[in-house]
Amino acid sequence: MKKGSTAGIISTGRALPVAKITNHDLEKIVDTNDEWIKTRSGIEERRIITGDETNSELSARASRIALERAGISPAALDMIIVATVTPDQILPSTACIVQNKLGAFNAAAFDLVAGCTGFLYGFDVATRYINSGAAKHILLIGVDTLSPIVDWQDRNTCVLFGDGAGAVVLSAVDEGRGVLASKMFSDGTKANLLYVPAGGSTRPATQQTVSQRGHYIKMNGKEVFKFAVTVMVDSLLEVLSLAGKTAEDLDILAPHQANLRIINFACKRLKLKPEQVLVNIHRYGNMSSAAIPVALDEAVEEGKLQAGQLVGLVSFGAGLTWGAAVTYWQ
Ligand code: ACO
Repeated sequence: MKKGSTAGIISTGRALPVAKITNHDLEKIVDTNDEWIKTRSGIEERRIITGDETNSELSARASRIALERAGISPAALDMIIVATVTPDQILPSTACIVQNKLGAFNAAAFDLVAGCTGFLYGFDVATRYINSGAAKHILLIGVDTLSPIVDWQDRNTCVLFGDGAGAVVLSAVDEGRGVLASKMFSDGTKANLLYVPAGGSTRPATQQTVSQRGHYIKMNGKEVFKFAVTVMVDSLLEVLSLAGKTAEDLDILAPHQANLRIINFACKRLKLKPEQVLVNIHRYGNMSSAAIPVALDEAVEEGKLQAGQLVGLVSFGAGLTWGAAVTYWQ
């Protein structure tokens, strides 16, 4: 890497499924109502994959947009990271399928599993690869297609999630214009708060795992909520301090979109104004690793993200995992 440069996001892209499910549609499937979902989570509708839409197809679509905007050919990529918990299949990695779709044959490609924090984990890895000089251009995709592993008979979870993909290209930019700090965190003692019991090598698919509905997400929402409100703020403050900054220096916050109440709580503690915070949960629900990159891409298009602004990114998810980053926008 050139002296005086650092990793930075140079472009964004997104791809969302066509089909929408509104809260009113869900009222016909489970015992819930629009009012409960809106007041408890802030969600009004979500997208779900149908037809030919898959994790890798959404990933490739979002990536082509990001690559075109970056002016970088797929062959110039050194690495493709697909942050996801819903790969197309167990083997091979979705990143290799995406590599083939894009024709990015010089790139090392791998999936990264960190629940809804996947994008920020990938961001930390990509930043360090670029800063070390080991990679020049990295495509980072945050993508999840949760609808096939959501239990549509469980009102505690099925109202919360949605599908989507967001992609960013990270490259070396002038120092003072890119990433200032990032950090990943995990606490495996809380693994049982959010998990899918069957389908891995411990409990492979059998007729029993299917009849027990073991291939669907199980979540202790209350405990995840309590955890999230603390770590969202604490981790961001820690990373701001690593960057030599405070919450007052932030122009924009791009938080994980799991629950509007969690976002609002964090903003209050950080003393951020509503217009400083990217929110799209009402339209998409919780898209896991896709939430932040999709929000960034929409904010670029809407002119909310401007060159030179200081942006905070923060997320939490299954694991439990959490992470934060602070970057200047290019
Ligand atoms: N419609 C109507 N009632 C419902 C629904 C629903 N969809 N879901 C639950 N309820 C009921 C519950 O059964 C409960 O009834 P009870 O008191 O008779 O038992 C009541 O509503 C209250 O439930 P709570 O769990 O107390 O509701 P809470 O205010 O905690 O909100 C929620 C639930 C929205 C799940 C919240 O806890 C939350 O958002 N938690 C965080 C979840 C999260 O962020 N997960 C993603 C992690 S990221 C990743 O890696 C995928």
